[in-house]
Amino acid sequence: MKQKSIKIIYHEFANAEELKANDRKLLLSARKAAKSAYAPYSQFQVGAAVLLANGKIIIGNNQENAAYPSGLCAERVALFSAAAQFPGVPVTALAITALSKNFHVDFPLTPCGACRQVMAEYENLHQVPLRLVLSGESGKILVLGDVASVLPLMFNSKQLRKKK
Ligand code: THU
Repeated sequence: MKQKSIKIIYHEFANAEELKANDRKLLLSARKAAKSAYAPYSQFQVGAAVLLANGKIIIGNNQENAAYPSGLCAERVALFSAAAQFPGVPVTALAITALSKNFHVDFPLTPCGACRQVMAEYENLHQVPLRLVLSGESGKILVLGDVASVLPLMFNSKQLRKKK
């Protein structure tokens, strides 16, 4: 038996002003998107903004539904929209944030497991690291260099090797 460990590196920033210009711009797009989220049931409005290798920024926000499981997270709305509009164009960064009149969001929003899996799909497809910028309404901001930083030991298409 061998004990092994996985190291995750991330950078912590005190506020948006401390970020690099590209990350700040992407986060501002995500913050704007959060304002128009359709979240009447949770009152937890999430905004996401995807930066593509062609320079385009595609936004998404959570879209809830009276039949709760039919809704979709902001990250997947943004990633699927980007893939639909610009198929084959690598996704290089994703900023995520949240705001709420009901809940404290004074911590960086760390995405749900299903969204991490979707991020992994596109990162693996394009073989380009997907940088993550995670923020709340206030408080510190985390920046991570790739999806493995939030989804170690991930499942992806490399594990779907046909036998013949
Ligand atoms: N939500 C997101 O949009 N992204 C996440 O990463 C976590 C949760 C949404 C789903 C639901 O509309 C609301 O936030 C509360 O869970």
